[in-house]
Amino acid sequence: MGLLELTEMTVQYGGLRAVDAVSLDIPEGAFVGLIGPNGAGKTTLIDAVSGLVPSSGSVRFAGRNIERMPPHKRARVGLARTFQSIELFDDLSIRENLLVAAEGASWLSMARAPFWPSRSADAAHRVEQALASLGIEDLAGRMPDSVSLGQRKLVTVARAVAANPRMVLLDEPAAGLDSAESIELGRQLRQLTTDGRTVLLVDHDMGLVLSVCDYVYVLEFGQIIAQGSAAAVLQDPRVVKAYLGSEAAAPMESVL
Ligand SMILES: Nc1ncnc2c1ncn2[C@@H]1O[C@H](COP(=O)(O)OP(=O)(O)OP(=O)(O)O)[C@@H](O)[C@H]1O
Ligand SMILES: [Mg+2]
Repeated sequence: MGLLELTEMTVQYGGLRAVDAVSLDIPEGAFVGLIGPNGAGKTTLIDAVSGLVPSSGSVRFAGRNIERMPPHKRARVGLARTFQSIELFDDLSIRENLLVAAEGASWLSMARAPFWPSRSADAAHRVEQALASLGIEDLAGRMPDSVSLGQRKLVTVARAVAANPRMVLLDEPAAGLDSAESIELGRQLRQLTTDGRTVLLVDHDMGLVLSVCDYVYVLEFGQIIAQGSAAAVLQDPRVVKAYLGSEAAAPMESVL
């Protein structure tokens, strides 16, 4: 049984089926990729799993049906995500940016033990663990606008990890990075599964997906058109066709 199981998930925006009867099954501890051309429905799928847009079909996480849960409850049961655009608080240090997320996640422990004095210490500990997991401990005291784009990407992932999730949904963390920076980012992201977390990585960067994912789903017009190992889906004629003529054709050709 997978950690995240979607059965016939559908998201309708007016007359458009942005996600069309998608079923997928992600085992605990796996590093899974979700790729597809612009507008394929990748972000919408992550939004629906996070509870930010309504969907039909079932969403099971850790054996529970969560499709009726509001987003904050899904976060509490262990789902975290990043957003396609970087949204960091510019006036807070990188450590403080992470603390905001980690303190929010302490709500459950506060509810269980309201007089537990070490709640903040617990959050601070998770922040240090998240920084270490992404290899950015030395950036903790810096302000977000003083570090490189690649480092800011790592900070957004670390912020999701600071809530100590079982699963992290990453929406195009490599956007804007060159291929060497993407591969380096991928190396750091792999640490998340080494730490026992489960990852769903949405990206256009074929080099990144190929180098880090155990299994890949390919989405086109809201539907899964291929799935399997990264090497297998890259050979799939439907996948090649889906990418031809799109912006992602160039990176795909360089991989093939
Ligand atoms: N809030 C919305 N209302 C109506 N249509 C939307 C909305 N958000 C997305 N769409 C449409 O749904 C489809 C899927 O969009 P989505 O952003 O999920 O694609 P994507 O695969 O993440 O694309 P990209 O690679 O560009 O990030 C597109 O046709 C898009 O125009
Ligand atoms: Mg998107």
